[in-house]
Order: sequence, then C-alpha cells, then structure tokens
Amino acid sequence: MLERINETTKFLKDKGFINPDAGIVLGTGLGGLTAKMENCIEVDYKDIPNFPVSTVEGHAGKLIFGDFGNKKIVAMKGRFHYYEGYGSEQVALPIRVLKYLGIKCLFLSNAAGGVNPDFRIGDIMIITDHINLLPNPLIGQNDDRIGARFPDMGEAYDKYLIKRALLIAQDHKIRVHKGVYLSTSGPTFETPAEYKYFRIIGADAVGMSTTPEVIIARHMNLPVFAVSIITDLGVEDKIAYTTHQSVLDEAAKTEERMTSIMTDMISAL
Ligand code: HPA
Repeated sequence: MLERINETTKFLKDKGFINPDAGIVLGTGLGGLTAKMENCIEVDYKDIPNFPVSTVEGHAGKLIFGDFGNKKIVAMKGRFHYYEGYGSEQVALPIRVLKYLGIKCLFLSNAAGGVNPDFRIGDIMIITDHINLLPNPLIGQNDDRIGARFPDMGEAYDKYLIKRALLIAQDHKIRVHKGVYLSTSGPTFETPAEYKYFRIIGADAVGMSTTPEVIIARHMNLPVFAVSIITDLGVEDKIAYTTHQSVLDEAAKTEERMTSIMTDMISAL
C-alpha cells in the first residue's frame, strides 16, 4: 500500500500539487465549491495512477488543486462508495495520498437523510460523532508506518474545528445542528423501520459515505471536520419518496451556505 501511496503522491507533486494546507471531499451534489478555487490544476481520477474511478452521477471524478481564499487546497470532486463495489483499499488510497501530499486537515461533506425529528430539509448538520455500519476500511494487514493497528476513535471529529464552525454559522446566521452521522452501505434508501431503528440507536442523520474516509484519516492522526446536508427526512409521517435526483436538488439548494462555512473554516486554518 505505501508504495502505491508514494507513487501516486509523486505523480501529483510532479503535476504541481505542492504544499496543500487542507483536503476536502465533496459529497453528492456539493461539487460547486470548486468554482471558488483559483489557479487550479485539475486531474481526472482516471488519469491518476492507482486511483479508482467514480461511477455515480453527481460525482465528477476529478482531483483539483488550487487557491481557496488565502489557502491552498486539494479537492476531491467525487468520492468512492462501497455500494459501487469498491473495497477498503480503493476507498483508503485517495485519503492517504492527500495526507502524504501534506494536508493538515481533512474536510468532508455529504448528503444525508435526517432522522432527528427537529431537522428540516436543507438543514446543515455538523458531525460530532459517527456510527460506522460499513465494513471498517482498516480490516486487513496494518502498515505501522501509516498508522497504529488499533486507532482510538474517542474524538474522531476535531472539537476545535466544530467550535469554530458553530461560531462561523452564528456569524452568517446559518441554521446548523450538531449530530451523529450513521453510515450504511446503501444503495437503497431506508425503509421506515430502518430509519426508526437508526434513530433509536443514536443517529441524527444517515448516509452512505464519510465514515470510511474519517477512519482512514484518523488512522493517520489527521484532524477531520465534516458536515451533512439534510436532503430528505427519515422521520415518521415526514418520509417522502426519495430519489438520487431529489437528493441532488436539495443538496444544490444548500450548497451556498455549506460553502460559506467551509470557506471561513479553511481561511482560518
Ligand atoms: N439515506 C441514506 N443515504 C442518504 C439519504 C438517506 O435518506 N439521503 C441522502 N443520502
């Protein structure tokens, strides 16, 4: 694994991906943040050695390096999900490469279904903790050069970054919640009974991504900040027919608010 990480990292450094301050993984329908990047170098995933290729509509599959405010960032426009058939190694490699490129912090966004009855469609949830119901991406042989065999997950989401995000949201008068994100494999959206069950076991929102990347990042001690955009509700009597398109549409409506929080978070690093 380390050889492949080094090979991919070198390829990207040679392309000009030098000294990024932060990495950002853009979730379903949230790729528009890259429009605010300047002096960009873009590489399609399919042209990056060892990178898997994203297959889902709404996930463009490009790695973009550039200026974002006063910082240099690498953005993953399009991510890799287990439901596409990728294995742990494929999900892990891009995040490890971001770390080896030198990012100090990883930001992630996703679209999620709200199971907390206080949530409304279009709300933003700052993730404070998670329940990972996907296969753990660290299963298999551990390379101690990358991280410890048994990483602690007591504070997976950086407390300091959460505090800062809450202040930024307050400044911008953006309604945000804090909450627990639960990941399932998908690709089905949940049955009403499953939404209810996820609420009972402690989730505020449910989605099909993010926790594998967070686990991989924390394995390398990389600080993480993540937000969910609530695109539909898994709350009794509020459950509506959900499609990939309805998720994309709702995510797009919230993108501007999510982007202004991310912009201030990154410029304050
Ligand atoms: N469930 C799972 N994943 C999702 C949902 C949902 O309701 N909404 C957006 N991604």
